[in-house]
Amino acid sequence: MSRSAHPAGPRHADVWPEGHYSAPPADVNALDPKVWAQTVTRTDTGEVSVGGIGVAALAEEFGTPAYFVDETDFRARARAWRTAFGHDADVFYAGKAFLSRAIVRWLHEEGLNLDVCSGGELTTALSAGMPADRIAFHGNNKSTEEITQAIEAGVGRIVLDSFQEIVRVAHIAQSLGTRQRVQIRVTVGVEAHTHEFIATAHEDQKFGIALADGQAAEAVRRALTLDGLELIGIHSHIGSQIFDMAGFEVAARRVVALLAAVRDEHGVELPEIDLGGGLGIAYTSDDDPREPHEIAKALGEIVTRECEAAKLRTPRISVEPGRAIVGPTAFTLYEVGTIKPLEGLRTYVSVDGGMSDNIRTALYDAEYSVALVSRTSDAEPMLVRVVGKHCESGDIVVKDAFLPSDLAPGDLIAVPATGAYCRSMASNYNHALRPPVVAVRDGEARVIVRRETEEDLLRLDVG
Ligand code: LLP
Repeated sequence: MSRSAHPAGPRHADVWPEGHYSAPPADVNALDPKVWAQTVTRTDTGEVSVGGIGVAALAEEFGTPAYFVDETDFRARARAWRTAFGHDADVFYAGKAFLSRAIVRWLHEEGLNLDVCSGGELTTALSAGMPADRIAFHGNNKSTEEITQAIEAGVGRIVLDSFQEIVRVAHIAQSLGTRQRVQIRVTVGVEAHTHEFIATAHEDQKFGIALADGQAAEAVRRALTLDGLELIGIHSHIGSQIFDMAGFEVAARRVVALLAAVRDEHGVELPEIDLGGGLGIAYTSDDDPREPHEIAKALGEIVTRECEAAKLRTPRISVEPGRAIVGPTAFTLYEVGTIKPLEGLRTYVSVDGGMSDNIRTALYDAEYSVALVSRTSDAEPMLVRVVGKHCESGDIVVKDAFLPSDLAPGDLIAVPATGAYCRSMASNYNHALRPPVVAVRDGEARVIVRRETEEDLLRLDVG
């Protein structure tokens, strides 16, 4: 969250207020391909289109707010990960970023596997035809029901997160007369440079079993003695929205060191390692994400080198990107409702959604971009804060951005890079109806998750 430069020259105010914004863009109508999905473009009329369909027609047919996913882009990104990692590695899409049955089918068709972390995600995956053996089941407190459901379905692996869970999964597998393939999630003790709430490999947090004090080695010891478990490998996930490869490299090195220690102690070479997800994407033009082939190369080289040094067979590598696949492929379309210039501060632009469809700004101080998409404008850029319609002042969608100063109620604006952790963390706060997700491809748009209705709300309210 790198933006800091203060622009020169007055716009709404003589003095620019404190903020994170960059200078006004040279062209407020330009769409930076770094933050917009692949097929998003401005047509000759100035309107923005995705998959060949203009936003006005999309708003007319599907309403606002709504998420639009560029299916072509999603498939291309999934394929890029698949290709980058090749046949000696597996890519598990992290369903928590966004999951629906259409997404599961696209993943299946593109040759990806799936990481789920709840019974609900597992049911969604299975109901859309993802073969169970291509599913990994995660979570730091899986219920007995979830573990049973996963084992009965035949998931390819369960990732064990605690000593209790090692025993619990072994016991359930044994009582079902089977042996479950498992990995042990370890915390490698690296500080991932990201928001505290989404960093997961330092010691003081809830996930995994620590390498540092020998706990992870003890977990392996116990797992190897239990009949209900087939220990296939070690798992590490260091955090999310990370740009610096160094953390992944340290994690890879430490995981391989554990494999060597396990071999030395037990004479067993565990055949797999999973290095998790976490790769950052561009939310604004200031972000510079790594490409899948760079990650595949860096991880592959490190693991191979470390294994050669330790005289280990190179294990099969897997990774779990969520955000990096789905994040950049969608935008949220809003209609502008009210516009409130605050003299000396900034202009508040209220849209018809807010923290119920994107909690990330309020939760992580996340930064987003925004553009006027129903038309172009030659008006001067003005500094805006895009806010929602919820009953609290932290209901901010885009903290600081520039929109044309002739912006008017009824204009359509869009926030790019909302494919990950927006619909999946959406809420009914203020009894908002969660927006639909619409897939757009080659001139066709179809709803893949429909908009909630007031009947949906009332159906749950059985008092
Ligand atoms: N694997 C595991 C075990 C994870 O816990 C996660 C994310 C991933 C893979 C996928 O990480 P990704 O590639 O999407 O960064 N709600 C937060 C992100 C929480 C991530 C939780 N775990 C946000 O909106 O930024």
